[in-house]
Amino acid sequence: MKALDRRKFIKLGSTGSAVLLSWPFLNACEGLSSKKNESADPDFEPDLDIDLTAKESQIPLFQGSSTKVWMFETKINTGADDAIQQLNDIYLGPILRVRKGQKVRIRFKNKLPEKSIVHWHGMHVPEKYDGHPKDVIENGETYIYEFEIMNRAGTYWFHPHPHGRTGPQVYNGLAGMLIVSDDEEEKLNLPKGEFDMPIVIQDRAFDQENQLLYLNRGRMDKMMGFMGNRIFINGKPDKNLNLKAGATYRLRFLNASNSRFYKLGWSDGTPLTVIGIDGSLLEKPRSLPYMMLGVAERVDIWLDLKDMPKETELTMKSLPFSTGMMNMGMMGNMGTTLPLGSEYDVLKITLDTLENNNIELPEKLLTLNKIDPSEAINEDNPRIFKFFMRRMQWMINGRTWEETGVADEETVKLNTTEIWQLLNSGGGMMGDGGMMGGKGMMGNGGMMKGGMMQMPHPIHIHQVQFNILERDVSDMDPDVWNSVKEGFIDDGWQDTVLLMPGMKIKIIMRFEDFKGLFLYHCHNLEHEDMGMMRNYKIE
Ligand code: C2O
Ligand code: CU
Ligand code: CU
Repeated sequence: MKALDRRKFIKLGSTGSAVLLSWPFLNACEGLSSKKNESADPDFEPDLDIDLTAKESQIPLFQGSSTKVWMFETKINTGADDAIQQLNDIYLGPILRVRKGQKVRIRFKNKLPEKSIVHWHGMHVPEKYDGHPKDVIENGETYIYEFEIMNRAGTYWFHPHPHGRTGPQVYNGLAGMLIVSDDEEEKLNLPKGEFDMPIVIQDRAFDQENQLLYLNRGRMDKMMGFMGNRIFINGKPDKNLNLKAGATYRLRFLNASNSRFYKLGWSDGTPLTVIGIDGSLLEKPRSLPYMMLGVAERVDIWLDLKDMPKETELTMKSLPFSTGMMNMGMMGNMGTTLPLGSEYDVLKITLDTLENNNIELPEKLLTLNKIDPSEAINEDNPRIFKFFMRRMQWMINGRTWEETGVADEETVKLNTTEIWQLLNSGGGMMGDGGMMGGKGMMGNGGMMKGGMMQMPHPIHIHQVQFNILERDVSDMDPDVWNSVKEGFIDDGWQDTVLLMPGMKIKIIMRFEDFKGLFLYHCHNLEHEDMGMMRNYKIE
């Protein structure tokens, strides 16, 4: 299998070879200091070696002035050309395609006016390649990642992870999809090439001069999270996608918004056919009326256009749902014309040309080999993590961010399996968070009902893929639950889970291969930046 992988990636493009000859000199020019990972390991033989440069740029997004953005620019030094798909005039990062077993070297160059570091979301990598905030580099510096792809086939992504600045850096355009394939998936003969379509959903807001607006309403915005008023698909403001009538597609959705989450469904009520989630395919395709997609979550949807004529239009919406006692229903939405929980279009698909790619949906996808709860060292005694607000600060078990700090209850042992229980216990009068101080009116006139502040938290754990064992909704607002309950898949291998107010979720995971400090956090990027992020240690 390795031999086969290698053959595929050994054919160097002409630019590839040229660069390969010149890079030792480049390195010398840039100066070597070994404190950070600035130099490539000569013993590491990459199948794919790329430059990934984060820099300021300007692109024409709308009529009139161009928009200032930050973007990733890539260059392949070694590897096949199709390992990177870079679209023009979008401000989103490229799509990287890699294969399990491949060795990858990524030379991250920071040309931003501030510190940054890149994280590979969902990937199982050693601590020093995880993009921890302690590893940030300054403008002009380079950080070299060298790791083997150990994950199974799935839809992953990458984005900056400096503490306090992840929200604005992602918002400015620094995010991309990382697609992993493997032999097992290959056997299934799923749609490939143009029929394997990434769909990155984000919300954005702009001023009169076409410039990005972010958190213009101060601290309250940060606590609620940013909500834009227009949906971008794949880094573009027009939500149209042209697909081919007669074909079948694998649509890989990624919610790369800062705070907004979606209840995705076809506008005509046709159920969604889900084939994969985060880090794996499902055992078999599942049909759902809609799918909840929390921040940072991915879902693979099958789309069969075989019986559809040219010119057909399909619309994917975010369907209405209740935000109930989540006060953001009143506050977080003050500045947007797209309130959370309202109904709006996410994507419009038009069928242009006709082409049958002769691909059928397999009845069975794969065997997931999920973890048996009896493997856990704490089967009857899960580690408990409570996510709540106290004194206007989002907390995890009453703690906030410390760069290298880690508590005993955040320390686990290598080669063990554990069950963790994640609780969204709100805050204020109803939760563990203590009183908010009955201010009543806040921010732009939002009410704090009885001093309570509850919000959903998309919880992400670095380094692992977990299985969801249980989703206890007994403490949830029934209106909220009833409006979203058919949109969750507690199956497959996942790294992020949407923890709604009052929800309690049990997950199981193995800590394998690598010791070190890894993160777990709320992936609402504003919450994360405010400190709803902690280390856990594998020792
Ligand atoms: Cu998507 Cu800590 O990351
Ligand atoms: Cu991550
Ligand atoms: Cu949160």
